[in-house]
Amino acid sequence: MAPLRYSHRILSPAKTMSTFTETFNLKVPLIQAPMAGVQDARLAIAVSQSGALGSLPCATLTPELARQEMLAIQAAGIGAWNVNFFCHVPPPPDAVAEAAWRDALAPYYQDYGIDSHAIPPGAGRAPFDAAWADVIEPFRPPVVSFHFGLPSPDLMARVKAWGAKVCASATTVAEARWLVERGVDAVIAQGLEAGGHRGHFLSDDLTMQSGTFSLVRQLAMTIDRPVIAAGGIADRAGVVAALALGAAAVQVGTRFMCAHEAKTNADHRRLLQDAELSSHTALTRLFTGRPARGIVNRLMRDLGPMASIAPAFPLATAALAPLRAAAEKAGCLDFSPLWAGQNTRYCRAQPAADIVAELVPYR
Ligand SMILES: Cc1cc2nc3c(=O)[nH]c(=O)nc-3n(C[C@H](O)[C@H](O)[C@H](O)COP(=O)(O)O)c2cc1C
Repeated sequence: MAPLRYSHRILSPAKTMSTFTETFNLKVPLIQAPMAGVQDARLAIAVSQSGALGSLPCATLTPELARQEMLAIQAAGIGAWNVNFFCHVPPPPDAVAEAAWRDALAPYYQDYGIDSHAIPPGAGRAPFDAAWADVIEPFRPPVVSFHFGLPSPDLMARVKAWGAKVCASATTVAEARWLVERGVDAVIAQGLEAGGHRGHFLSDDLTMQSGTFSLVRQLAMTIDRPVIAAGGIADRAGVVAALALGAAAVQVGTRFMCAHEAKTNADHRRLLQDAELSSHTALTRLFTGRPARGIVNRLMRDLGPMASIAPAFPLATAALAPLRAAAEKAGCLDFSPLWAGQNTRYCRAQPAADIVAELVPYR
């Protein structure tokens, strides 16, 4: 496709897009969405080397693993990169809810010969805290992004003290205002099309959330910070449209899942590239306890994607882990979280640098 030339002034107020790339030290207004579980530093480095912002998701990493990944990023000598964390409040353990969840999964355990009593409870994902700040501070990541709200004010101040720009996801105008009041440098407008977890934190009511373009436009008209459009954007036309609505940049996830440098497993990649199989996604809380968008599979069909039987985030994950592992070993994705956004059409195996070049409307 020939490069599309346009004036920043026409499609996006000059102050938004060009200021964004300058402030975030980027060549192009594109962020590779942090995607816990399907990528590590390799994808982030390839994206950042292409002039966009590569992201390292830390939600499912141990501190030691995160350190290794950041050492790899440091060794690559890239200027701009992002580390990403969850900011949920972990729920107290709930033995009753856990037992009910394991009961609901009992027929599947039986099929795979799994002893549910032998499954250790696991915390799953840890939120950003002072210990995590100790881990990342020596690396001084230039951008830190948060999902599910923000850390405490003292931790925000600590992150900003080393000069990091802070971004965070909003799913409503009210959340965006809340984030701006607490000092974020840019707001990620996460529309309902987006793959992976919904980033909401003020209300669990999904009916309050809207599609990407509706949200982006409202935020661009409401808040005095750059808006980053996320959800369902997978090609150049989508990028141009988001910028035309007032976004200063876009954050793209699903399109990068089949990049050579991603770690998405082979079966999940195959599904993403199958236009028919990947066309049916839904929000489900079964895999972790929080709503997230993924390709509909057997567990979602059997129990209902939003069934309340799954314990609170992130406690639902532990009981599913051995089931998922056993099924995947047999080439079956019935119990795997098949995260994907609503737009999988452009997913194909290619280098991340080519994805960046195809997405960004000019070089
Ligand atoms: C596989 C996958 C994992 C994700 N993990 C994270 C994460 O760890 N942190 C985060 O802030 N967002 C995460 N997201 C959400 C993205 O930040 C972003 O909102 C979404 O990918 C944008 O929609 P798209 O996938 O349609 O491009 C994830 C998305 C996907 C597809």
